[in-house]
Formats: sequence, structure tokens, C-alpha cells
Amino acid sequence: MTTPLVEAVGVGRSFRLGGQVIEALLPASFEVFPGDRIALMGPSGSGKSTLLHLMADLDVPSTGRLTWPALGASGRLRPGRIGMVFQASSLLPMLDLAENVALPLLLQGHTQEARERALQALDAVGLGSLADKLPEELSGGQAQRVGLARALVGRPKLILADEPTGQLDHATARHVLDALLAALEATDAALIVATHDAEIGARLRSVWYLSHGSLHSELEVEPAT
Ligand SMILES: Nc1ncnc2c1ncn2[C@@H]1O[C@H](COP(=O)(O)OP(=O)(O)OP(=O)(O)O)[C@@H](O)[C@H]1O
Ligand SMILES: [Mg+2]
Repeated sequence: MTTPLVEAVGVGRSFRLGGQVIEALLPASFEVFPGDRIALMGPSGSGKSTLLHLMADLDVPSTGRLTWPALGASGRLRPGRIGMVFQASSLLPMLDLAENVALPLLLQGHTQEARERALQALDAVGLGSLADKLPEELSGGQAQRVGLARALVGRPKLILADEPTGQLDHATARHVLDALLAALEATDAALIVATHDAEIGARLRSVWYLSHGSLHSELEVEPAT
């Protein structure tokens, strides 16, 4: 049997805001396996980012047990085993694109090959010719592709993308998703994409729905061609 990348048993997350408790994620149990392609859908505020941040080991559940059986122990998963694309642009404005993309490798001590691999990752998302530009010189779609390149450069086993095509027009969104799927084609990495875009949902094999913090269905769907 394949060992899961992520295993969640009754995992929930609540936040205290003033005197109020917000149940951002109600207790949920699930597994993520190598090669999975999952769209995480649900309205604004339904808990998509909360769930991704938990799976990225950026946050800690309030209840339940979250483990990464095939990846390793909490605290040692990023950067390296898990690549994360954030909802808001997270490029450092004073570094050029190659330097931004190389950062995860530098943090892991791979200084020798960092630049070359960063250039390859930028090529893979179609931005190789912009390697020495600064983030401020990019369009929104280009900046999101640089974020993808940075998430992929360390060849992670699990890629968590939080609305990587948010605020893009349909054609650009399709290019960004194409770049992501093409980069993963020959790998067994798992991909989870939080998105409001039904077209993205239709192109991934599974769709998970969140509603008011409740992960209420997992459907296997035929990917659209
Ligand atoms: N750090 C926090 N402190 C307090 N409340 C939070 C925190 N993070 C998230 N929440 C609340 O948890 C709920 C789920 O938020 P979350 O960001 O996960 O939703 P989302 O589905 O990603 O929404 P969007 O589509 O707008 O990005 C919301 O009610 C939000 O206000
Ligand atoms: Mg969100």
C-alpha cells in the first residue's frame, strides 16, 4: 500500500477573535497520496487557506492529529518536501527573479546549483528570459508564475497552491495552470490547488469542497481534456 504524504485524523482549527470563537475548519479526516491532483473549492471564508496552511506545517491544528507519513516530521518539511504558493504575492522586491526563485535552495544549503536550478524553474514556467528583472517589473500573471517556480524549484513531493490564479483573466489563469501541470507531469508529486475557478476544478482529478469549515465531499471526477 502506498504511504500517504498527508494523513489527517479529526483535524480542526478554530481561532479566538475577541470573545468569539471562529471554527475555520471543523474536524476532518483525509489522506493525500503521491500523484494526487486535488482542487479545493468553496466560498470565501470557507477555510481553504486554513486547511492549506495546516497541511504546509505553517499552522497547528486545534484538535486532531496531522502527520506526513511519507515526508517526515513537522518542522522539517519546508522548504524541501513541501512547496507552497501563497495567495498574496510573496516575492521579495529587492531580489531579482532568479534570486527570488533560488531562495528555498539557498535556505537548504544548496548554494552551488541554486542559480542554475532557479533558471531552469523559471524556464519551466515560461519566464527564463526575465531572470534578472525585479518583481516590480512584472504583470500580476508573471508574478504568480514566479511564485510557482519558487514553489517547484526544490522538487517538492507536495505542492500546495493557494489561489495561484486569483485575480487573473481566464486565458492567463489557463497558462499558469498549464505551466504547473506541465512541470509536474513526469513526477509523482501531489498537487492541491485552492481555487474559486470552476475551470481549474474541472481539470484536476479530484475536487474537495469546503463549506463553513466543513470538508463535506471528495469526488473523483474525470479530468476535462
Ligand atoms: N489568523 C486568523 N485569525 C482569526 N480568524 C482567522 C484567521 N485565519 C482565518 N480566519 C478565519 O477563518 C475563516 C476561514 O478563513 P480562510 O482564510 O481559511 O478562508 P478561505 O476559504 O481561504 O477564503 P478566501 O477564498 O477568501 O481566501 C474565516 O472566517 C477567517 O476570517
Ligand atoms: Mg484563502
